Amino acid sequence: MLYRKHLAQAFTYKSGRPPEDLLKAKGIKKVYPLASNENYLGPSPKALEAINKAKNEIHIYPDTLCSELREKIAKLYHVNVDNTLIGAGSSELISMLYTAFLEPDERVLKPNPSFMLYKVLASFMNLQCEDFQLNPDFSYNIDTIIEKNTPETKIIIVVSPNNPTGTIITQQQMDKLISSLRKDQILVVDEAYIEFNDAENSYDDLIKKAVDDNYEKNIIVLRTFSKVYALAGLRLGYLFAKKQIVEGFLKVLKPFTVTSLAEKAGVASLDDTLFVNKSIQLVKDGRKKFYSEFDRLNLDYTKGYGNFIFIKTLDINKVSEAFLEKGVVVRPCAQFGYEQAVRITYGDAEANDQVVKVIKENLDLFKRK
Ligand SMILES: Cc1ncc(COP(=O)(O)O)c(C=O)c1O
Repeated sequence: MLYRKHLAQAFTYKSGRPPEDLLKAKGIKKVYPLASNENYLGPSPKALEAINKAKNEIHIYPDTLCSELREKIAKLYHVNVDNTLIGAGSSELISMLYTAFLEPDERVLKPNPSFMLYKVLASFMNLQCEDFQLNPDFSYNIDTIIEKNTPETKIIIVVSPNNPTGTIITQQQMDKLISSLRKDQILVVDEAYIEFNDAENSYDDLIKKAVDDNYEKNIIVLRTFSKVYALAGLRLGYLFAKKQIVEGFLKVLKPFTVTSLAEKAGVASLDDTLFVNKSIQLVKDGRKKFYSEFDRLNLDYTKGYGNFIFIKTLDINKVSEAFLEKGVVVRPCAQFGYEQAVRITYGDAEANDQVVKVIKENLDLFKRK
């Protein structure tokens, strides 16, 4: 074995996409891709226009710092340019976070169940990553985080709305968590799905706290263009933090990872409020539809604030198969530690109807309350 020893036991990331040839073999013509929390509307017209315009410049290396996009985000959120940074997806920023801030004897503390990349990247890098458990209804329990927060804990991750459950941290919980932090720690708030969060008690002063260079606590707010802005395939993410933290990221910045097309598309997407609002409305319509149908069927599902829904089943293999037969690609949650649960991204009315139809035809495979 030539590769590094710890990689023999490393977790690997599994995407939610089934092989194209499997779909072809089943003779499935219409596919409803609801496995990866992408934007069902497709790309924003303004982003497409920007890419089209920028394509004649792709022989030129991109601007590593993405100055145009960085400045635009800074202006939009009323922060200094030094308090924000662009990456090739928030995934790249998470990777940079570990490289820049975590010593081998320090630990990451992350929710369970949650986005697997936090664990996977720690595993690749041979770094220590520990879980704290969400409540049985998948709400956060701040006391559990505080209990698990040891002197070795350097980075605490919270994901709100959480993937795959959609559950959030309330303002009160966030305040409690922040006040429990030590000054030598970093709290990362992953807000990949924040635009879909219409909960009244969402926290609005978080970015302000994160970018306050004199604030004694360290907070990183992580965002992405992959969800509401529909640029998952281009890879674009950003963060907010104090200048000293951004400087840490700059130490490990690789040149040219964000492409010029991604940057231009990002800039254009921020202007396409019509598209953003349509994307949010699509998700809200989906929620309304699923909640009323699922309540009528008495399904055991979780009410959440992301662009997806988490449902408990009695036989995940049969459920996945039943969906696939009707062209609906969903995400089984075994990798998240929930062998029998499924996560389904909201689609348009047709896709959502198809989901409900499959569930109704296979009701005995779904757990009831
Ligand atoms: C909670 C969470 N954070 C981050 C990401 C990664 O996003 P990106 O596409 O920006 O790397 C995802 C992707 O699904 C996610 O669910």
